[in-house]
Amino acid sequence: MADPVELATERLVLSAPTEADIDAIYAACQDPDIQRFTTVPAPYQRTDAEAFVHLVAAWWATGDECTWAIRTQGALVGMIALHGVRDGAAEIGYWVAAPARGRGYLTEAAHAVLDFAFGPMRLQRVEWRAVTDNPASMRIAQKLGFRYEGMLRLGLGRIGPGNERRDGHIAGLLAADARTPQPWPI
Ligand SMILES: CC(C)(COP(=O)(O)OP(=O)(O)OC[C@H]1O[C@@H](n2cnc3c(N)ncnc32)[C@H](O)[C@@H]1OP(=O)(O)O)[C@@H](O)C(=O)NCCC(=O)NCCS
Repeated sequence: MADPVELATERLVLSAPTEADIDAIYAACQDPDIQRFTTVPAPYQRTDAEAFVHLVAAWWATGDECTWAIRTQGALVGMIALHGVRDGAAEIGYWVAAPARGRGYLTEAAHAVLDFAFGPMRLQRVEWRAVTDNPASMRIAQKLGFRYEGMLRLGLGRIGPGNERRDGHIAGLLAADARTPQPWPI
């Protein structure tokens, strides 16, 4: 992959974050749940947002990772990524700024990213992982059609302000899987 790819949905535009987004990313990443449930640095400094947008550009250039800012009406409301793109698989990761949650933005953005992953990128598998006490993220993965695959004991690293290892759930979606809500045993 070379240039960042832009995706559009009914309400959203997904495009690579740029330097113009640094203030919005810094503000959103002050949220305790983003710091608690994702691998963003905690505490989150403005320099972390600056470094992030430069890393994103490098990841698009190498093809290691595809990261999109989720935008609606010109405002950045979240971030979604395919991490660790390798050998036909990648892991999906995301956050939505606290004031914009509960409007289905992430679900809508994720469908576009999965279309891209299984379409032009030709991935065979997209993986989802989350710490075991993140029901909102689990609900999204379940609704998107991810199949529950198990619990990874201390399987997730660099989580939260303590940079801890935490128990995590893992689920997977294959290119041919129906993207309909799945029953999960948890
Ligand atoms: C997870 C997150 C991205 C969801 O963003 P969002 O824009 O609210 O997502 P959506 O509106 O598309 O969908 C959220 C779903 O989770 C459900 N949900 C929200 N909080 C929930 C909770 N505490 N328990 C169960 N379900 C919950 C919502 O009801 C909704 O499902 P529904 O459409 O069936 O009602 C957002 O909460 C977030 O950024 N959290 C912090 C960062 C994070 O956890 N990232 C994921 C790391 S794996």
